[in-house]
Amino acid sequence: MRIAVGSDHGGFALKNEIARMLAGAGHDILDVGAHAFDPADDYPDFARAVGLAVRRGEAERGILICGSGVGASVAANKLAGIRAGLCHDTYSAHQGVEHDNMNVLCLGARVIGSELAHELVRAFISARFSGEERHVRRLAKIAAIEKELMSY
Ligand code: RB5
Repeated sequence: MRIAVGSDHGGFALKNEIARMLAGAGHDILDVGAHAFDPADDYPDFARAVGLAVRRGEAERGILICGSGVGASVAANKLAGIRAGLCHDTYSAHQGVEHDNMNVLCLGARVIGSELAHELVRAFISARFSGEERHVRRLAKIAAIEKELMSY
């Protein structure tokens, strides 16, 4: 799978580790940065880059990491068509795809350890949207909210 990864300084080390793990498992990784540790960089820049890569079809899924995962998820969800979820349990990491067609997984590198992060990423990447009618209906309602309310 082609996967876009991005992080600010808070998630920099974990992002590199996850990218290496995914590449080792045969995935095609698009690393949108940060490409060097910069304590002054800003998570919205990387959320934008990951979201755009997914929206443009340059990547099928995205993984975004910041300190808590909160800022990354807030920013990524500002892009229409991006369904980002902050998941620190494996149930949500796969159910978010199966039911909600989550296309960006957000993680907080200051909150979880490396082994759990790997498991969450594997659960996210292995999951597929179920396509069930009730989920399609709910996603259509989200798309309608985007259309109606994403700008003032
Ligand atoms: C950066 O210090 C930190 O605020 C950021 O990585 C993230 O936790 C925001 O949600």
